[in-house]
Amino acid sequence: MESTRNQLINLLAKSQDKYISGQSLSEELKISRSAVWKHMNELKKDGYIIEGLPRKGYRIIDFPDKMSENTLKWGLDTKWMGQEIIHKNLTSSTQTIAHELARDNAKHGTVIIADEQIKGKGRMNRDWLSAKNKGVWMSVILKPSIPPHLAPQLTLLTATVLADVIYKSTNIKPQIKWPNDLLINGKKVAGILTEMQAEQDQIQYVVIGIGINTLYELHDLPKDLRNKMTSIKLSTDTVLDSNKFLQALFTIFESTYSEYIDKGFSEIKLKWESYGFKVGKPISIKTLKRSWTAIFHGIATDGALLVKNSDGTIEKLYSAEINWFEERSY
Ligand code: BTN
Repeated sequence: MESTRNQLINLLAKSQDKYISGQSLSEELKISRSAVWKHMNELKKDGYIIEGLPRKGYRIIDFPDKMSENTLKWGLDTKWMGQEIIHKNLTSSTQTIAHELARDNAKHGTVIIADEQIKGKGRMNRDWLSAKNKGVWMSVILKPSIPPHLAPQLTLLTATVLADVIYKSTNIKPQIKWPNDLLINGKKVAGILTEMQAEQDQIQYVVIGIGINTLYELHDLPKDLRNKMTSIKLSTDTVLDSNKFLQALFTIFESTYSEYIDKGFSEIKLKWESYGFKVGKPISIKTLKRSWTAIFHGIATDGALLVKNSDGTIEKLYSAEINWFEERSY
């Protein structure tokens, strides 16, 4: 059962700009009018801006900056993305919660978000630094009706969504380093971790973990990572409003995903390449058998890397060590 306070916020949030009378609030919530008035004062103390006018009633003018399920939902105009939100102040990893909820039949588009993670997970079993209120640490549950071998496309799609939302909110065009690191000025600002539960020919669910470093200052970052890692604040001097930023992310995610389901991957591929780090430039490649320099040509529809060799042939690479930052280091 939801608390009276949350029910009150929901009622006010739903009516957006319209006033609701103290009388109807007290009837809906089955509490006295003086209890309504007390709750309003508590909300104001917590940073909600509420206008109360005699004979008209109450309306919310603004939510506090702090993130919560309510602030994230207020004014959110999506059909499914972020319509269910679980917000935690502190958690081990939002990925773990997402897997539990997905197994428990959570809806497509459910978002789990935390202010801080104790054991943030990165790709390849690495740790992911997730300090309190220094970034967006979230996981989204998807239930796509695509065959499991196409799931890597969802990661590439997510990378384009992050690039779009960062570009829109900061006016700085980020780059995507294959397969899915977001860079600004060559330093990593965000990463994506995709985990999937599937049977041979059917996806049960996909959990996409998104970590965006928004507010780290230089002194927050480990010394040995300062030349590789950055935040939106450090690299663009922009202090994002987390609620607005996330709402923009949810909206762009939903429209990009719908377009992908309707029209396939080709538009996403082009968009990815338009943000691609070093596309059209030489990169150094090392596989078990050889080391060579080739031109980064783009990505294939299955997410593989395409390179153009000096004899003009296009080669598809699934696993190779790439040195992105120096041309001839091998
Ligand atoms: C990477 O290695 O680049 C991927 C990083 C993904 C981090 C995010 S933060 C939210 C979600 N929960 C986690 O534990 N990891 C992902």
